[in-house]
Amino acid sequence: MKIDFDRVIDRSASHCTKFEKYAGQDILPLWVADMDFQSPIAVIEALQRRVEHGVFGYTLPPPALIDVIIERLQRLYQWRVEAEDIFFMPGVVSGLNMACRGLLEQHQAAITATPVYYPFLDAPSLQQRQLISLPVDKRADGFHYPLEALAEQAAGNAGLLMLCHPFNPIGRLLDRAELTEIAAICERENLWICSDEVHCDLVFDGRQHIPLATISPAAAMRTVTLMAPSKTFNIAGLGGSFAIIQNPELRARFKAAGEGILPNVNLLAYEAMLAAYRDSADWHESLMTYLQGNRDYLYSALNALPGVTMHKVEATYLAWLDVSALGLNNPPGFFESHGLGMSPGAQFGDGDYMRLNFGCPRSVLEETVARFRRALKVS
Ligand SMILES: Cc1ncc(COP(=O)(O)O)c(C=O)c1O
Repeated sequence: MKIDFDRVIDRSASHCTKFEKYAGQDILPLWVADMDFQSPIAVIEALQRRVEHGVFGYTLPPPALIDVIIERLQRLYQWRVEAEDIFFMPGVVSGLNMACRGLLEQHQAAITATPVYYPFLDAPSLQQRQLISLPVDKRADGFHYPLEALAEQAAGNAGLLMLCHPFNPIGRLLDRAELTEIAAICERENLWICSDEVHCDLVFDGRQHIPLATISPAAAMRTVTLMAPSKTFNIAGLGGSFAIIQNPELRARFKAAGEGILPNVNLLAYEAMLAAYRDSADWHESLMTYLQGNRDYLYSALNALPGVTMHKVEATYLAWLDVSALGLNNPPGFFESHGLGMSPGAQFGDGDYMRLNFGCPRSVLEETVARFRRALKVS
């Protein structure tokens, strides 16, 4: 069945975070990371069937979902996990906070490379722990993980590395050499790792995502991996994700950090996760073709403009735009005044940039480019 990603769906009456921010204003919402597409039909039908049942009591994770996740990790990454290694949670961000709370002693710090999805920056202080942020290496050929700085800082009072892989907002998919070095440093300095891999199914150009935990058996023993179908299948509002933790001691500490605080996963999220992973492969394939087209269109259109540089996006539907050459005092305000509602780079740790979500119909991106041109007075 052909999936119509070109269709513009009116989200204005759905109380969605993305559109409410600019309600009543002529500003395109290009910020928060959800897409403007309908979820796969299999997901919609699974939810409809469950709603029809009409009884919505406390619910366990469906065994079929556990089987699908185990099969999927084996097939995609040759990663063998057991049912008890999987821990379902309503959100990935909770996992970042639980890692800081449960895996660090009071005097210890969490390390993260920046710019990064802002809850990475907030989690340590929310949990009364210290943050060590390491700017990524900007080189002519793009962004590189700051391995030398990591090696230096890991030798101090750090107890945890928070990894964003694929890397929001810079759009990098870390490669095997980088992951191997990261794992070796954490092994040498005895750091736990919390690897947020929520964007792992949004990878372009035939690249292969490599879960950090699959780098070596030793890496697996010190890693909490966070995954979810929420970004890929556009079901973030349902709240369903999971951690994979193969080391029983680490698992116990991580779970204990959420005890009495972390709610159960919503039963509709279980249904949606299962239908997404089990029954929506064709939709996912079509999505990736469409998103790659969006990325390529945006890449050539924006890089043709004076003062804007779009970095190559290897994964995620988020473009990271260097606007420093425009010399603006207030980049978010400038772009909003021209009808473009992007995420301020400062939120992620680098105010020279803006983040643009291209998970939308092509026509919306064409309008986005037209507004950029007007803003920059390009005829
Ligand atoms: C890297 C990353 N982790 C986590 C999340 C949010 O996860 P959740 O809504 O499940 O807390 C996002 C959302 O943009 C993200 O980009």
